[in-house]
Amino acid sequence: MKNQTNITVIPGDGIGPEIVSSVTQIIDSLDLKLTWDYVTAGKTSLEDSGELIPQIVYHSINQNKIALKGPIETPIGKGFRSVNVSLRQQYDLYTNLRPIRSLKNDRYSNIDLIIFRENTEGLYIGLEKNIDKDTVHATKLVTRSGCKRIIKEAFDFAVKHNRKKVTLVHKANILKLADGMFLEIGRALSKEYPDIEFEDVIVDNMCMQLVLDPNQFDVIVAQNLYGDILSDLCAGLVGGLGTVPGANIGTDIAIFEAVHGTAPDIAGKNLANPTALLLSACMMLEHLEYFEASNDIRKALDKMFQEKLLTKDLGGNLSTSDFTSQMIGFIKNT
Ligand code: NAI
Repeated sequence: MKNQTNITVIPGDGIGPEIVSSVTQIIDSLDLKLTWDYVTAGKTSLEDSGELIPQIVYHSINQNKIALKGPIETPIGKGFRSVNVSLRQQYDLYTNLRPIRSLKNDRYSNIDLIIFRENTEGLYIGLEKNIDKDTVHATKLVTRSGCKRIIKEAFDFAVKHNRKKVTLVHKANILKLADGMFLEIGRALSKEYPDIEFEDVIVDNMCMQLVLDPNQFDVIVAQNLYGDILSDLCAGLVGGLGTVPGANIGTDIAIFEAVHGTAPDIAGKNLANPTALLLSACMMLEHLEYFEASNDIRKALDKMFQEKLLTKDLGGNLSTSDFTSQMIGFIKNT
């Protein structure tokens, strides 16, 4: 993967094309000579070709193994399966890594948390059926191997990055089998990492604890649905969804995308904040071992926040395109 240059780009729907354009322009200003292989998926593709994920998307990802993806709208109802869930399952991208870091001093300062969300199982397998016209069953799938690999990722990350503590989030008091197994595996695995503190917290209490004092946590590991909800909660602690990046990582393929969605309320208005996707792109550059380039972007971004050059969602007045030009200016002057 080192210094690979071909990258699949899925601009996505809503604000997707605006933020993807901003991020690719910023990276291009670093002259890494990356080639962006653009393919379309989601609502835009459905309207153009009748398919949510055309074959060309799979072909491109299979070839490049790395993708940068804008948010995608999955039509609600009508039997459509989420594009995001489909891609994560197709490539077994079992780790959803979501770093939550304060960029500006908000209600809380110095937040630096990492969420490991299990990305292929749980309630997101989309197995629902009508038992009768007034009753629906939704299946939550939990496997021993699925639990083990995501919890192990969290511990290994903690060791590699000098983190102190892993917090496992669950609801084993109610879901004694499904969440009970997750907890039991976490407890057993923790014995192999004696230098990392381990604790488990029930998900509802976890929400309150995060709001009261987020700095008591370090690395968090959770099943799919809890991890999804906790990431949006944590985004709220650091100023909103506009700043939280993410990566979906499997054994040989990785897709980098922001935590936020298509933001239909601001789409096409040049208001979207590209920071979350830009930080996802930094994670991608680090994955490809372009460490210097990623560092240059992070330094320029820190300067934007120090000088309060912010988009509207963070209380500033920069448009998406102003943000892009200002970032490129800072990068050129470092
Ligand atoms: P959302 O994340 O799109 O928006 C929630 C709020 O945050 C809105 O007020 C929006 O304006 C704001 N926001 C989000 N990103 C922003 C950014 N970069 N800059 C400034 N403001 C930003 O969540 P919502 O409304 O629940 O979902 C909209 C659509 O996105 C749905 O169709 C959903 O399925 C899809 N979605 C897609 C995801 C993906 O492709 N990974 C993830 C989450 C949702």
